[in-house]
Amino acid sequence: MRLLVTGGAGYVGSVVATRLLELGHQVVVLDDLSTGNREAVPAGAEFVHGEVGADTAGVLAAHGPFDAVLHFAAMSLVGESVTDPDKYWHGNVVAGIALLDAMCEAGVGTLVFSSTAATYGEPDRVPIVETAPTAPTNPYGATKLAIDHAITSYAHARGLGAVSLRYFNVAGAYGGAGENRVVETHLIPLVLQAALGHRPDIAIFGTDYPTADGTAVRDYIHVADLADAHVLALEAAESGTHRIYNLGSGEGFSVREVIDTCKQVTGIDFPVRIAERRAGDPAVLIASSQRAVDELGWRPQRTDLTQVVADAWEYTRALGERAHSAPR
Ligand code: UFG
Repeated sequence: MRLLVTGGAGYVGSVVATRLLELGHQVVVLDDLSTGNREAVPAGAEFVHGEVGADTAGVLAAHGPFDAVLHFAAMSLVGESVTDPDKYWHGNVVAGIALLDAMCEAGVGTLVFSSTAATYGEPDRVPIVETAPTAPTNPYGATKLAIDHAITSYAHARGLGAVSLRYFNVAGAYGGAGENRVVETHLIPLVLQAALGHRPDIAIFGTDYPTADGTAVRDYIHVADLADAHVLALEAAESGTHRIYNLGSGEGFSVREVIDTCKQVTGIDFPVRIAERRAGDPAVLIASSQRAVDELGWRPQRTDLTQVVADAWEYTRALGERAHSAPR
């Protein structure tokens, strides 16, 4: 298939693009490099430097015909979405609608969209199923949910075949692609930076949650398993329908458990400090991915947290070595 991957210079987008190329697909990456890195775009993909909102129509016309679009490009920091909502409504929603219009105009009928667990907000019960109420607690989740609603109506009215994948906490690395953000806020890469001595310590945001050890619990999914789900979603998309799937490992780990696993995998002890809760953080987020298993035939292979951390560690260490050996 010939595929447009928006956000293919970012973390998940670059891993999925790598996987699609391995499977023999042709990949064109559209990315404005606002948060991604040009080096992350896998060799073998064509790269177009541009914005989703302004440039998708032109790319679909000039580089097509395309069989499908995988739309990763988005703003995705919960805290920033609270302070700068305009960035999120424009970057995620206005640009997302432009992408849907451009697809209809160009006759591209298949979309795989990166949605998020943040669309559910604070869950009534875990594991979270797709029929759970959607009540996002921040603009990031609200903008992703808004696009999910738009996709449903475009699917019904225009015959789009769409699949939204609601990711829980994505981690790990695959094929030389991993987490490498200019501004890092995610737990595992930050802990590994502390292990490398690139930051003085790791802060635990809150030890008074109603969980076994008092720290927040999350469901960490290996990015390679996530990539496999995108491939299955592409195959499953059906004209006129919008399907939604949660993707996680189905198991929750506390912040303390993640830190302990990182210490064990790296063999390095590093300082840990206790800090206040981070605003907007739910206590426990765990996915039910049963629907993806039943309907897509998804079979996650790397559900062991030790493996997730080991793969992230290999990538982070290589990244640290490259940064330190680069000419200044
Ligand atoms: N945490 C710390 N210290 C840190 C960083 C994070 O204790 O230095 C804690 C957080 O408070 C949270 C957990 O580690 O309890 C995981 O935090 P992350 O920032 O790694 O991930 P989030 O759960 O906040 O966010 C992820 C995705 C979002 C998505 C959200 C919804 O990154 O895009 O899940 O489920 F919206």
